[in-house]
Amino acid sequence: MPALTQFGDQMSHLTGVRAIMKDIIETLRLGQSFINLSAGNPVILPEVEQLWRDCTTALLASEEYGTVVCRYGSSQGYEPFIAAVRDDFNQRYGLSLSDRNFLITPGSQSLYFLAANAFGGYSSTGQLKRIVLPLSPDYTGYGGISLIPEALTAYRPQLDLDPTAHRFKYRPDFSQLEITPDTGFVLFSRPCNPTGNVLTDEEVTRIESLAAAQNVPVLVDSAYAPPYPALNYTEMSPHFGPNILHCISLSKAGLPGERIGIAIGDEAMIQVLEAFQTNLCIHSSRYGQAIAARAIRSGALAEISEQVIRPHYQRKFAVLEATLDQQMPGSVPWYLHRGEGAIFAWLWLQELPITDWAFYQALKQCGVIIVPGSPFFPGLKDDWPHMRQCFRISLTASEADIVTALERLAQLVDRVYAGQSTEHRAVAVTAPKQEVAR
Ligand SMILES: Cc1ncc(COP(=O)(O)O)c(C=O)c1O
Repeated sequence: MPALTQFGDQMSHLTGVRAIMKDIIETLRLGQSFINLSAGNPVILPEVEQLWRDCTTALLASEEYGTVVCRYGSSQGYEPFIAAVRDDFNQRYGLSLSDRNFLITPGSQSLYFLAANAFGGYSSTGQLKRIVLPLSPDYTGYGGISLIPEALTAYRPQLDLDPTAHRFKYRPDFSQLEITPDTGFVLFSRPCNPTGNVLTDEEVTRIESLAAAQNVPVLVDSAYAPPYPALNYTEMSPHFGPNILHCISLSKAGLPGERIGIAIGDEAMIQVLEAFQTNLCIHSSRYGQAIAARAIRSGALAEISEQVIRPHYQRKFAVLEATLDQQMPGSVPWYLHRGEGAIFAWLWLQELPITDWAFYQALKQCGVIIVPGSPFFPGLKDDWPHMRQCFRISLTASEADIVTALERLAQLVDRVYAGQSTEHRAVAVTAPKQEVAR
């Protein structure tokens, strides 16, 4: 094994949920039957797969095929694909974007890596430019994007609680959020993985104007947003502006294997990221872009997103909600995050007597796998008990499996809170006061 550099050492470790995924994969290998509610991989929906087959057939039959796979292209992306997205966005949102406002990357994860290291980290004068996540929890993958880990700074949210309905919603805490000259850029997912939260238009506008005042870019991770994959269950509109980079992924629209990320924004920012990408990998693969160009130009991708992909996960969320409402012990302070989008549900067990990790292990003993919440707080430096009381539940399983798994989860919750008895109360007396309504 050669000696590793600082960057080598850092990048050779998995961050966040990927480390837990290793435990999950090893558990699944044991062969016992589990209901797996941990998956982040989207479901292969027949209509979506058929769309990609049809677009591939059309590409294979066209003269374009040779130039798509047998030639290098522009670092910015495959021109017909950029043109299709440009025309679609201009028409849909009344914009006047040109090709120069686009960059195609091999998946959106790589786009965040480019941005994290172009706009975050140490400046030429030695100033640390922070990557600000205005609302924690957020996408676990942000934990590994910066070569300078100390650059990542996340802020605790405020909690909107509805104890009677057992629902809650995170809101950015503007009394804490600092966007200053040492901010490199701001980043958040909308809809959010893992919570399903959708920041309101007002909240987004407020973040954007705080950032604009400091000439700081705002990257809106729209991996679940409309028009594709349209995994929003609440009304939301995309934001555009001189300091906004609107970032799309086609992974949840059925093409995770093809690795397509799209950045839309100011030409100067795009050029920086494009040069970075040229140095890194020349350009993104063109086959996926060529089939996606067809699906976007025809309108099929937006239509399937709205009519097939969104209702599929929305139905799953409704089943999950109904099952929890029916099965969870009424005496336990459990809270489900409002399901406003994405392909996950986020459950908070307030005052959970054991850690999220211990609960995850105990639930595995009941044949159910969910994801403990603590890896979803990248960049948060405080020790906040809430981080060890949450769980991400994937909506990719069948309805029957979701129901069975949540029945078992509810029984375990009952046992865990009942079992706390004197032992837990003793801890609760000495432990710091729980966060209730931040
Ligand atoms: C919020 C969010 N952003 C970015 C990504 C990365 O997606 P990709 O690199 O496949 O575009 C994911 C993947 O799950 C995600 O959930």
